[in-house]
Amino acid sequence: MAKATTLLAILLVLVFNLSCFSSLTLAARDDSVYESFLQCLKSKTNPQDQISDIVYPQTNLSYTSVLRAYIRNARLNTSTTPKPLIIITPKQISHVQAAVICTKRVDYQLKIRSGGHDYEGISYISNVPFFVLDMFNLRSMEVDVKNETAWVQSGATLGELYYKIRKKSKVHGFPAGYGLAVDNVLDVQMVDANGKLLDRKTMGEGLFWAIRGGGGGSFGVIISYKIRLVSVPETVTVFRVERTLEENATDFVFKWQLVAPKTDNGLFMRMLLQPSTSKTNKTQKTIRASIVALYLGNADTLVSLLAKEFPEMELKKDNCNETSWIQSVIWWANYDIGTSPEVLLDRDIDSAKFLKRKSDYVQTPIPKDKLNGIWQLMIELGKTGLVFNPYGGRMSEIPATKTPFPHRAGNLFKIQYSVTWDEAGSTAENEYLSQPRKLYRYMTPFVSKNPRGAFFPYRDLDIGVMKAGKNSYEEGSVYGQKYFNGNFDRLVKVKTAVDPDNFFRNEQSIPTLPTKA
Ligand SMILES: *[C@@H]1O[C@H](CO)[C@@H](O)[C@H](O)[C@H]1NC(C)=O
Ligand SMILES: *[C@@H]1O[C@H](CO)[C@@H](O)[C@H](O)[C@H]1NC(C)=O
Ligand SMILES: *[C@@H]1O[C@H](CO)[C@@H](O)[C@H](O)[C@H]1NC(C)=O
Ligand SMILES: *[C@@H]1O[C@H](CO)[C@@H](O)[C@H](O)[C@H]1NC(C)=O
Ligand SMILES: *[C@@H]1O[C@H](CO)[C@@H](O)[C@H](O)[C@H]1NC(C)=O
Ligand SMILES: *[C@@H]1O[C@H](CO)[C@@H](O)[C@H](O)[C@H]1NC(C)=O
Repeated sequence: MAKATTLLAILLVLVFNLSCFSSLTLAARDDSVYESFLQCLKSKTNPQDQISDIVYPQTNLSYTSVLRAYIRNARLNTSTTPKPLIIITPKQISHVQAAVICTKRVDYQLKIRSGGHDYEGISYISNVPFFVLDMFNLRSMEVDVKNETAWVQSGATLGELYYKIRKKSKVHGFPAGYGLAVDNVLDVQMVDANGKLLDRKTMGEGLFWAIRGGGGGSFGVIISYKIRLVSVPETVTVFRVERTLEENATDFVFKWQLVAPKTDNGLFMRMLLQPSTSKTNKTQKTIRASIVALYLGNADTLVSLLAKEFPEMELKKDNCNETSWIQSVIWWANYDIGTSPEVLLDRDIDSAKFLKRKSDYVQTPIPKDKLNGIWQLMIELGKTGLVFNPYGGRMSEIPATKTPFPHRAGNLFKIQYSVTWDEAGSTAENEYLSQPRKLYRYMTPFVSKNPRGAFFPYRDLDIGVMKAGKNSYEEGSVYGQKYFNGNFDRLVKVKTAVDPDNFFRNEQSIPTLPTKA
């Protein structure tokens, strides 16, 4: 032990000295990279654009606040987290085009950040020298109710989109977050690796297929999507029903697995599972199972539907809240019904908890007698919860190859593993990270296999990363098969055709095919 410590200390001193020395030369190189990049940008944009106003080097007083604004995981907000040399905040499409061309010219990596949840920070962290292209200024939206479409720039948030639709119509919405958003994308504006602006027509159907679920960031910079609005009834119903183990939560969860994926297409019932304490005995640990649900219809119809399909729930009209679709969105975001829709405009910048998420898919119901083992482990771990999101319904009608997102056919539900904590530091981090990993291991017999599926938007670097060297195809296949199943190779073909130099890359992007030696 003593020997190891000494060796480590010596190594640390060496590393420290080396980095002192090299930081001098690095600083000089950084300055010259910044200068050449800026010159290049100026030469590619209109002089009136004052392009230096959208470029933040590390020495800029606003650099830190711009970087922190869209960090969505406090775990990635430390002094040792790698930082971009420059943050570029384009205000026009031409700025994006110039940024792509000039980043290539100085041979840096370009990370693209649109500001939504990014559990692993891959939109603003890299282990090689990099810039961040931060899209928050490109957030305009045009909603055309008559044609039931909207153009939405990629820096806009979902809350802003829902708010904007609501301003124009009470009977339209958009199904993001339910696994059906990609089916309602009609057109796109994207800047490719050559700085060219493409739309659906000029990119062709192969690339258009790939960016609807394959991760736009592997193929280019998405500027905006044209989406199809969907109609929603004027009245919808939401409810929340809970059971603890003492209240037969095990039966409740087992029955949910049979009903939620098969029920009426207008009913979405999510299941949340959390370690908790018993209501009657505060020293007794238990599991709390909660069903939170949205029904596209009124409470009477819903109550009689569930009396038939799920009598154990004993749902009463008193448990239900009839409201507008926009209020249901607000309710899903954990605000009380009746809260002003303006809360949807809150971007909640520079505030994040420490968190880790993982995902799985379940194809056959978990047997009732196996649920107890899961409860015991969750109670032992103490802080990790599970969210079961039902598939089935309209989703099961969509073939696995229709979009790159393959998991809608053949799965009963998706599991999200979720742990969130408040304590900074690596001791807490190691403890909390280990919890969902243990539970994930335990769940192996109950979830999909060969490959074990994972949900792409819940990024999880545990399931593989690409180092972008000569093994990138093999590395990419590891997570790629889990996220995309049989669609992975088709995505690789598109990627190889449109970005053969792998300019648009991140830790889990689509790799190119290996070049023949
Ligand atoms: C920081 O960068 C912004 C945007 O380029 C610029 O407007 C501002 O003047 C810079 N501030 C300093 C102190 O360099
Ligand atoms: C609405 O749709 C019609 C018919 O497809 C089309 O002619 C018209 O240009 C569209 N309007 C807008 C604003 O896109
Ligand atoms: C739990 O189930 C048992 C057996 O089905 C039943 O007798 C009991 O009333 C239930 N308890 C609750 C709180 O629902
Ligand atoms: C409360 O739960 C604890 C732990 O399971 C148990 O030891 C204790 O006897 C319980 N108390 C009562 C009053 O049931
Ligand atoms: C319906 O929403 C209102 C406002 O949030 C709340 O006061 C009420 O308790 C809710 N009713 C039910 C049954 O959840
Ligand atoms: C990052 O950390 C700073 C304190 O060091 C804190 O003020 C800020 O709110 C944090 N931001 C996020 C997104 O965690």
